Amino acid sequence: MSHINVKVAAIEQVTDLIKHFTFVREDGQPFPVFSGGSHVVVSMNINGRIQRNAYSLMGNPEETEAYHISVRRQEKSRGGSVHMHDALKVGDSLQITFPVNLFALEKRARKHLLIAGGIGITPFMSQIADLERNKANYELHYAYRAPEHGAFSKEIKANIGNKLITYVESEGGVLNLRNLLSKQPLGTHVYVCGPGPMVVAMIETARTLGWPENHIHSEQFTAPPSGESFKIKLTKSALEIVVPPEMSMLEAMEAAGVDAPYLCRGGACGRCELEVVCTDGNLLHHDHYLSEAEKAAGKKIMPCVSRAKCDLLEVVL
Ligand code: FES
Repeated sequence: MSHINVKVAAIEQVTDLIKHFTFVREDGQPFPVFSGGSHVVVSMNINGRIQRNAYSLMGNPEETEAYHISVRRQEKSRGGSVHMHDALKVGDSLQITFPVNLFALEKRARKHLLIAGGIGITPFMSQIADLERNKANYELHYAYRAPEHGAFSKEIKANIGNKLITYVESEGGVLNLRNLLSKQPLGTHVYVCGPGPMVVAMIETARTLGWPENHIHSEQFTAPPSGESFKIKLTKSALEIVVPPEMSMLEAMEAAGVDAPYLCRGGACGRCELEVVCTDGNLLHHDHYLSEAEKAAGKKIMPCVSRAKCDLLEVVL
């Protein structure tokens, strides 16, 4: 994938757990304009190991002088967010991908219902800039654990007023998805980003209420699960690569110098799909892209999040 070399221009501690990073281009050129809901993948060097994490772009998509992301510190994860929090300093250089939008607003929607949980607010920060500019009909429902976790709620309130509805758990606020989804006018599209259980609950509630599948949009950046080590063989190059427990197949291929395709790195977009030739064990599918039938057939695997319990897995690449 082609990259943009950037420098950290500013770091702001937004809450105890969230930092806001501002990037400018190393070459001084303007950034590409993006669309609300886009993300970039940030490459970081953690003690010689390259880790790539996807983060939503915040802020105004038409601002080309700087890009903005926010990172929630995840102690129990694989170190990317902790590295961003503890090691990254103003002036440091990084590589990011060009923006990709897998969470785009549907232009024909009569109304947009945005639902955010915690750090899942970030893609909506750029979407509301687009919605405000287009004078679109929308509401943003934002749930978080306690007032100190409501990153950006004051800033958003100042921008969009009563189109923001907040639910603060420690103050008894409850986001009732069923009530909210049942009273929406025909032609509404719903968008959710937040913790896994919230995303699943929203999708299931919308389906139960008969919402058309193409009116339901979700985004979730999840870290690839770790597991047992196994070996993969790439048929075209005959390369054999060991996938260690803490790396995904995709990361192991990249560490071996293979330029493998990806977009979301979270098992959602389908871009990294590989054809399985054979294995002496079982595939462990963790993606949200393949259907249950495709997973059961065992002919495809998404190496960004899925792995295998086997000695050898042979794939076409
Ligand atoms: S990169 Fe999107 S599913 Fe793997």
